[in-house]
Amino acid sequence: MTMSRISDRIRYVGVNDLKKIIFEGLWPLPYGVSYNSYLVIDEKTALIDTADAGFVGEYMDNIRKELGARKLDYLVINHMEPDHSSLIAAVKNEYPEITIVTNAKAVPMLKGYYGIEDGIHVVKEGDSLSLGETGLKFFMAPMVHWPETMVTYLEAEKTLFSGDAFGSFGAVDEGITDSVAKLHGNKNVTEDCFSGFEDEMTRYYSNIVGKYGQTVQAALKKLSGLEIGRICSTHGPVWEKDINKVVGLYDRLSRYEGEKGVCIVYASMYGNTAKAAKALASELQKRNVPYAIHDLCTENVSFAYRDAFRYSTIVAGAPTYNNDIFPPVYNFMYGLGARLLKNRRFAAFGSYTWAAASVRLLNEMAGKYGFGLLSDGISFAQGYSEEKCDMAELAERISCALKD
Ligand code: FEO
Repeated sequence: MTMSRISDRIRYVGVNDLKKIIFEGLWPLPYGVSYNSYLVIDEKTALIDTADAGFVGEYMDNIRKELGARKLDYLVINHMEPDHSSLIAAVKNEYPEITIVTNAKAVPMLKGYYGIEDGIHVVKEGDSLSLGETGLKFFMAPMVHWPETMVTYLEAEKTLFSGDAFGSFGAVDEGITDSVAKLHGNKNVTEDCFSGFEDEMTRYYSNIVGKYGQTVQAALKKLSGLEIGRICSTHGPVWEKDINKVVGLYDRLSRYEGEKGVCIVYASMYGNTAKAAKALASELQKRNVPYAIHDLCTENVSFAYRDAFRYSTIVAGAPTYNNDIFPPVYNFMYGLGARLLKNRRFAAFGSYTWAAASVRLLNEMAGKYGFGLLSDGISFAQGYSEEKCDMAELAERISCALKD
């Protein structure tokens, strides 16, 4: 990437990962992902976070190119998750006099992951570190989405180094700032940066940070007092032009506020529950209700979580299996609970052969999460037919409810 210069003082030294198929062993990366790291250059030099272990050569070259003969004084660790921390030892090897700057909660993690105990400067809420003409200021952002998470503010540049906050899946092409950056592999060349990344940002947030809406809200409140003209996250573009859109999206997602629309998820053994799902989609389309539909037997569940966070209504279809919910849909519902998703309307449907259980159990799960049930659900015996499954009536209910 030839996109290192963000400003006179700030350089991008991160990398694009187009090799990894599944992130965290769970989430597919159809557009790759970036591990962002930044150099701040003043009388002293500071590196903000590192990158994934698989990129040691490219990453260290990026740093060397920017620093030349200068030494690296500080390494600021905002977040210890290994996609950003696993090259700390490599940086320390190359620049043995470096001081690691982080908070107390990261100290045992540095030892536990990398055996690093020395050369650490511990900062706490509101502490500053002078780099010469400019300085860094540190704010704790616990549980966004790990306990040691903090953010670093460079006041002279109104720049927030935000860690994972405001991050996105998707490798970054063309340049790192949002005036030029493009989502890698995005075929829609006319799409602006925010629109190009919005889906992958929503999928990143909902899958990785989704449970921590309350602490994200606390962090947003704390940061609202800062003048922010640039957000340098650990994943995705650097936001300058579209900061309001990015902060607005994170704010809405972390308040668990859904747009008007429906996330239909289903899984089907022999196609009957699938037919019911598609019939509902067709009835919603007739009524101009926005929807997304996900087959959980063939798709990774992360795309369904994205749309469950996006839309205000969830409709789940599962056959009865072992007198229970068919496992892919159970897994989806379990994940909604694990992410503390709230403020949703819900309906269930599904086929059974000799004993109906799935719709009742789906309603029970939804009830536990505080979702509002739109109906008792549609449970039908054996094969699908319009007579057994009145999806037009369910679509009408949904459409009316969305007008509230
Ligand atoms: Fe990208 Fe939480 O690490």
